[in-house]
Amino acid sequence: MPETVTISTPDEEDLLFRLLRQLDAAPDASQRATAAALGISLGGLNTQLRSAAETGLITISNRPGPDKRQRFAYSLTTRGAAEKVRLTDKFLARKLAEYNALHAELTGAASGLPPLKHRTHPMQSNLAPIPELYVSYESAQKLKVEAAGLTSWDLSPRQICDLELLMNGGFNPLKGFLSEDDYNGVVENMRLADGSLWPMPVTLDVSEDFAGSIEIGQDIALRDQEGVILGTMTVTDRWEPNKSREAEKVFGADDDAHPAVNYLHNQAGKIYLGGPVTGIQQPVHYDFRGRRDTPNELRALFRKLGWRKVVAFQTRNPLHRAHQELTFRAAKEAQANLLIHPVVGMTKPGDVDHFTRVRCYEAVLDKYPAATTSMSLLNLAMRMAGPREAVWHGLIRANHGCTHFIVGRDHAGPGKNSAGEDFYGPYDAQELYRANQSEIGCEMVDFKHMVYVQERAQYEPNDEIADRDNVTILNISGTELRRRLAEGLEIPEWFSFPEVVKELRRTKPPRSKQGFTVFFTGFSGSGKSTIANALMVKLMEMGGRPVTLLDGDIVRKNLSSELGFSKEHRDLNIRRIGYVASEITKNGGIAICAPIAPYATTRRAVREDVEAFGAFVEVHVATTIEECERRDRKGLYKLAREGKIKEFTGISDPYDVPQNPELSVETENVDVDNCAHQVLLKLESMGLISG
Ligand code: PPS
Repeated sequence: MPETVTISTPDEEDLLFRLLRQLDAAPDASQRATAAALGISLGGLNTQLRSAAETGLITISNRPGPDKRQRFAYSLTTRGAAEKVRLTDKFLARKLAEYNALHAELTGAASGLPPLKHRTHPMQSNLAPIPELYVSYESAQKLKVEAAGLTSWDLSPRQICDLELLMNGGFNPLKGFLSEDDYNGVVENMRLADGSLWPMPVTLDVSEDFAGSIEIGQDIALRDQEGVILGTMTVTDRWEPNKSREAEKVFGADDDAHPAVNYLHNQAGKIYLGGPVTGIQQPVHYDFRGRRDTPNELRALFRKLGWRKVVAFQTRNPLHRAHQELTFRAAKEAQANLLIHPVVGMTKPGDVDHFTRVRCYEAVLDKYPAATTSMSLLNLAMRMAGPREAVWHGLIRANHGCTHFIVGRDHAGPGKNSAGEDFYGPYDAQELYRANQSEIGCEMVDFKHMVYVQERAQYEPNDEIADRDNVTILNISGTELRRRLAEGLEIPEWFSFPEVVKELRRTKPPRSKQGFTVFFTGFSGSGKSTIANALMVKLMEMGGRPVTLLDGDIVRKNLSSELGFSKEHRDLNIRRIGYVASEITKNGGIAICAPIAPYATTRRAVREDVEAFGAFVEVHVATTIEECERRDRKGLYKLAREGKIKEFTGISDPYDVPQNPELSVETENVDVDNCAHQVLLKLESMGLISG
């Protein structure tokens, strides 16, 4: 591990700052050129280079080739890149202090410039470039080689989204994943340790095993799911967060019905790591490449187009006529150009996929005047945190060069809590935004709830209709739209554009044509396989969709042949079944699963995997353990009682009885045909098969 960097005088610090800048900007320059750029002798440069290498800020390697004057190549290490960022901040702060002092001396008055930490984004022009965490292209090539030898963390899809916005300045002023002090400040009062406004924990959650293998001060490589190194992080902090506290403070309730709380408790690792990040390369996106822009690319675009004021519209849904009207009005009100800025990273589970949405946006974009409106895709992983999320969205849009931001009713709302009530009040987001607006640096345009007035054949803000008793007010809610799509019903032209409806129907055929999963659970010998087989045959007789049976025994012979019956192995077995079922569902087939699946949390995880693509129908085959043991078709219960089979479900291993299955079937005194028929009736009532 390299020693800690200790710098004694401002001059030395200044020289180091200039050296790191120079090596980052021109790593291939000769020593002579570097010395000249720094205004020091060759000997002086050598001393500096040696000291920087000894403290782990740069690496020196041999350069192949005949040129004797250029025998060595220099590149910044992760630590060096982080040090460069720290010294840049310090340098700017010093220059500001000098300016303030000069201003006071010459004019006798304070300069009025705000302190640096508050200048980062609010006071900065929306068109000037903002800081990114990437090193130069040349340094990145070298750093990549160095990082290949580091301990690696494979980022989750959500962490990849977070890292992209950290590196490209979308999360400015963050310089990496939050440290423990920053995290505590953010959770408790929406502020980083230095006092800057930041409402959302952006943390690197990892497993206990991984955290245990890391030393503080160590550099780690951050890889995407294919193993590509996107950046590195110097781990400065490692702690076990109080997740319930985080849930209460950030999301308003420790309730798993909230998607982000569910993620926090059931998907995120137990330990958080924090520290500065050095960006090597952007995550690669193969879809809609021309529609994706970094904050600096958008700022450059606005500069080029001469757009001074830009109002951003955030959305995770397809755009219909009401949205178009509302965005028009917002732009007019703010006298600004319009940026449609939809989220394509991660949104609420069950949302229309982003491929479909972007095709819908593209269809609608033609309906806006080309010179006033633009669209760009934002690879953000939303948390659905309502008020805090709105503030976060505003800060992100300010970083993307926008001056105004539309905040609607129930902005980024997560839906109902487990008691069936809304998590947040409909205007909580607007209130919190308003209270923090000056620091966000992006003015709020509050959402008008637009409705269609039939007699005037136009959209109007609901609260501005004076003659509401004499006119017909029409509106279609999101739930009603989903119902109409699911049942193949008409969607009127006053509500949406034909092009949008066509796209939606293409990806969301009526339920009776979509894929789904029937998931049987129950004790061994309860009758799961027999009913599942009968159901499969009946569905095949009906035809229309391919049917696949993933029976417990069959899966264990093929997919999971190496697994036993420990909790860990059972979970793995069920997650594999869930994965295959979700793929079948996604592709329009019917998956019938029939494992014991004794653990409620694992069944819930499988439900989530499947519900991203279609319906999940849990069927509890509720035969009692006594009856299963009495039947003992395979003779296993006898062996389990004799202790010859260990960890046997219901005898020496637990079974969590499903609390809210879609259907529960009794098998005692009921024949198999009837049980399978009950499942068919359930599928019919859910619209999954037509009558
Ligand atoms: S699990 O828990 O869901 O992974 O189990 P599953 O894969 O469905 O189990 C399939 C069959 O394995 C037989 N068997 C056991 N069951 C439970 N506990 C233990 N220890 C055990 N050892 C073997 C059992 O016959 C299961 O058959 P089914 O199809 O359920 O009757």
